[in-house]
Amino acid sequence: DKPLLSQCYNLMDFESVAKRTMKRGAWGYYSSAADDEITLRENHEAFHRIWFRPRILVDVKKVDFSTTMLGTKCDMPFYVTATALGKLGHPEGEVLLTKAAKKHNVVQMIPTLASCSFDEIMDAAEGDQVQWMQLYVNSDRAITERIVRHAEKRGCKGLFITVDAPQLGRREKDMRSKFTDQGSNVQSGQQTDNSQGAARAISSFIDPSLSWKDIPWFQSITKMPIILKGVQRVEDVVRAVEYGVQGVVLSNHGGRQLDFARSGVEVLAETMPVLRELGLQNRIEIFVDGGVRRATDIIKALCLGATGVGIGRPFLYAMSAYGGDGVDRAMQLLRDELEMGMRLIGCTSVDQLNPSLVDIRNLGSH
Ligand code: FNR
Repeated sequence: DKPLLSQCYNLMDFESVAKRTMKRGAWGYYSSAADDEITLRENHEAFHRIWFRPRILVDVKKVDFSTTMLGTKCDMPFYVTATALGKLGHPEGEVLLTKAAKKHNVVQMIPTLASCSFDEIMDAAEGDQVQWMQLYVNSDRAITERIVRHAEKRGCKGLFITVDAPQLGRREKDMRSKFTDQGSNVQSGQQTDNSQGAARAISSFIDPSLSWKDIPWFQSITKMPIILKGVQRVEDVVRAVEYGVQGVVLSNHGGRQLDFARSGVEVLAETMPVLRELGLQNRIEIFVDGGVRRATDIIKALCLGATGVGIGRPFLYAMSAYGGDGVDRAMQLLRDELEMGMRLIGCTSVDQLNPSLVDIRNLGSH
């Protein structure tokens, strides 16, 4: 009773198929968020409070939505963000995301807690395909250093250090299904306790003492651009500039960490005017993730000043429901939506997207 892939017309369709067809434990891990899941809901809803002010009578016969992120030219202004445990959804795991990313010329961020090994995912890339690495920082810095140096040696083009997870959030759906995972490539030799769900079981190595003081150390062990993933207030964006990192991801980890964290796009709307006022807007690349489901969401974030957006669950759901073809179709749907969205807003390239094209009076207190 699964619909044909061609009957999926948008990213939400993959979610409803995945919900019906995935194993309960896997669905619980992918779909869950922290506590009452208020931030999870808010992530997508925040986009619904942003309206367009399109331009008319612009020649939009040809539109180009390619862009450059951290020096990499991408066909579309989004990337596949890091999501752990790909094999819970599909036996082949993250390499399916790698292949779809190659086909559409978008970047994939490889999670520390991928089910496939880091090298398998790097090996699945073809030609000059660009990949980034997401890092959970181990209490044992020697392990972290080894991982980082290896990633750079293998050609990763960005190090995204997750900074919103000194402790994993409480994801009760995941805890209820008490998932015992076989599929993860867990970091060396730790004991795990599955009674708190998959997330807690695999994350006990993460160092809660990580602080700003560690940033220069990372800069001393790698030449990869460093991006802080999970920044939630403008003060910390300014601090990131002062520390000389190349980017931040305004993100609340898909609602999986602090419930009642604001959506990334709301933090973006607060951030960009301050950066412009301080003359810092060209010193750092600002990415956003959380709740991006439509090309209009992507366009809104770019209008507000984002370099690009990350998309997580939709690709996991597409992969779980339909394998690699599902991820390919999800990206194709976004491509079609982007073309239409750019035309209807009256822009032929992403550098024309600017704050005057959106009305954020209902977004929040700006
Ligand atoms: C994540 N996310 C995440 N982030 C990270 O830094 N390291 C990780 O291991 C994971 N793992 C992970 C697993 C699953 C199942 C999900 C859904 C998410 C967070 C992810 O990178 C991103 O911030 C959100 O997924 C973005 O929100 P959407 O697109 O899922 O709404």
